[in-house]
Amino acid sequence: MAEAPHPPIPSFVHHRSRLTEGQQHAWDRWWSERGRDVPDLLSGAEPYDPPAWFGRTAPLVLEIGSGMGESTAALAAATPEVDHVAVEVFEPGLAQLLMRIADAGLPNVALLRGDAVALLRERVPPASLAGIRIFFPDPWPKRRHHKRRLVQPEFVALAASRLAPGATLHLVTDWDHYALQMRAVCDAEPLLENTAAREPGGWTPRPPWRPVTKFEQRARTEGRAVHDLLYRRTPS
Ligand SMILES: C[S@@+](CC[C@H](N)C(=O)[O-])C[C@H]1O[C@@H](n2cnc3c(N)ncnc32)[C@H](O)[C@@H]1O
Repeated sequence: MAEAPHPPIPSFVHHRSRLTEGQQHAWDRWWSERGRDVPDLLSGAEPYDPPAWFGRTAPLVLEIGSGMGESTAALAAATPEVDHVAVEVFEPGLAQLLMRIADAGLPNVALLRGDAVALLRERVPPASLAGIRIFFPDPWPKRRHHKRRLVQPEFVALAASRLAPGATLHLVTDWDHYALQMRAVCDAEPLLENTAAREPGGWTPRPPWRPVTKFEQRARTEGRAVHDLLYRRTPS
């Protein structure tokens, strides 16, 4: 008898972390309005319905691993015509984004708590997204942990299939080894083309509109180069 396939290895380790008082306050005030749990979307207890969440139909960008929400909030404020869905497993980060929402309003941000990979696979329709952003994904630097890295061939094929033709996959990392892996995996994906194929190394020059987060600041302090990669979904 064939063995059941192993479940995919998650790209995150879930630590329960306490919220600060401010985060808890924001959570109690805003989560029920802005947040949803991925398991509820997967089970069907809650529909995956961005037009209902935002009260409009607009280009939809999914951010995987929004961390403390600095980029999400800044980019949502800069592009009010685009709806942003931040997917994260780290509750204090989601709560911090809710605090930013409390400050800035940001009607074009929705939060999802849980695994973005399962969400993409099981709920996000093919060719439905205007963009996917993955900024500073966990680098899993030890060789024996490389299998936990998010950006692997199977994941990139899934992500590409969820992008509308012409939509973009934007990856950023400060780990050289992971940057090379990202570029090799995305170059090999037939549904993607590198928008910076003519740039040295195929890296996209750092877009001035991408906010500097803690991770980028730390990379600068520690002397690590930061690489942006911007791929476009091909028309076919
Ligand atoms: C190193 S942090 C970067 C945060 C943020 N993008 C930034 O630039 O500051 C990576 C984040 O990705 C989240 N993450 C990793 N795998 C995930 C997954 N499969 N679904 C949702 N979030 C994930 C982790 O919880 C973590 O907060």
